[in-house]
Amino acid sequence: MWFFRSPRIVFGEDSLSFLSMVESRRFLIVTDRYLSGTDILKKVKTALPTGSETMVFSNIGSEPLLSEITSDMDSIYRFEPEIIIGLGGGSSIDAAKIIYALYEKPGLSAFDITPMDNFGMGSRSRLVAIPTTSGTGSECSWAAVFTDDNEKRKNEVASPEILPDYAILDPDLVLDLPRAQTVNTAVDAITHAVESYVSQWNNLYSDILAEKAISLITPNLLRVISDPHDFSARESVHIGSSMAGLSFSNSQIGLAHALGHAMGAYFGIPHGKTVGLYLPEVVRYNRRKAGPRYDNLNKLFPKKFISSTLDLTLRNYFREIGQPTQIKDIPVQKSDYESKISDMKDLASQSTGILTNPEEADSTALEMLLRSVI
Ligand SMILES: [Fe+2]
Repeated sequence: MWFFRSPRIVFGEDSLSFLSMVESRRFLIVTDRYLSGTDILKKVKTALPTGSETMVFSNIGSEPLLSEITSDMDSIYRFEPEIIIGLGGGSSIDAAKIIYALYEKPGLSAFDITPMDNFGMGSRSRLVAIPTTSGTGSECSWAAVFTDDNEKRKNEVASPEILPDYAILDPDLVLDLPRAQTVNTAVDAITHAVESYVSQWNNLYSDILAEKAISLITPNLLRVISDPHDFSARESVHIGSSMAGLSFSNSQIGLAHALGHAMGAYFGIPHGKTVGLYLPEVVRYNRRKAGPRYDNLNKLFPKKFISSTLDLTLRNYFREIGQPTQIKDIPVQKSDYESKISDMKDLASQSTGILTNPEEADSTALEMLLRSVI
């Protein structure tokens, strides 16, 4: 028996106007400090039903501490939102999931969120995710990442009850995404699709979404890079990224994420850039177990990049879009990187990405993969 979980997805031009049809009138918008001063927040507020009361909580940075996410819970309890909107990249949407859980179940700790328990959330509010980047897939997932205040480590918690009720994919909100963020988040999405497709928990639903994600993102990202305001290309990358998110949320990610998370923890490099750094080598490493599956995906890239194997195709494609595959292009000092290999190896070995990767990866294999990008 297997479950496929998804939010209700509103997508395409003008999909933000869906908010005007919602019958609720009390909206909490969780967003980051940067977006709180932009037109994007204004657009969302304007789309709310006439007469709505709105509270904006924007104490979210790029890697929020739990204490930051929960810093205004008293005001939120008093405001009594009927809808909680996560607006932004993965950090804001994940923060909204945590706030939603703690609002639904006062007294619950974020650390207690687990798929093993039934919390009975959803009696007070509904959760809406509105991504303003195309890549993290957080709008489609039932996981949330936050940083522990004491250990300064990233924690991932998960429960089907924090899966957003709605995901709104309005391409208008990503039209002005800067090039670097566009590429980083798209590489994250490509990595989600590739890793989900060969995960030991892959299934027919996650497969079809991963395949479609690759064929939507890879040609259209090139169009977006040459013309950032190409609406239809932006829309395809946005929807494709969400499909990749839906795919891995219903299967799992793999070794490139295990290694990328570990690298990101020590060097503060954007998530998409770190997972993409390792993806070609991970694909090569997994080839013995996942070769025919990778061959299926290899055919879906734009023709001029296709090589004999997926790892080579990825290298061709990444070169074109400016995604590094060696640390010298990040840039990170070789000596700094080498000094952290043992720590990164330990961190990667604790990642869930190890569990479902098609090929087993022991300590020697992790070290070999970490050294392969030097
Ligand atoms: Fe990712």
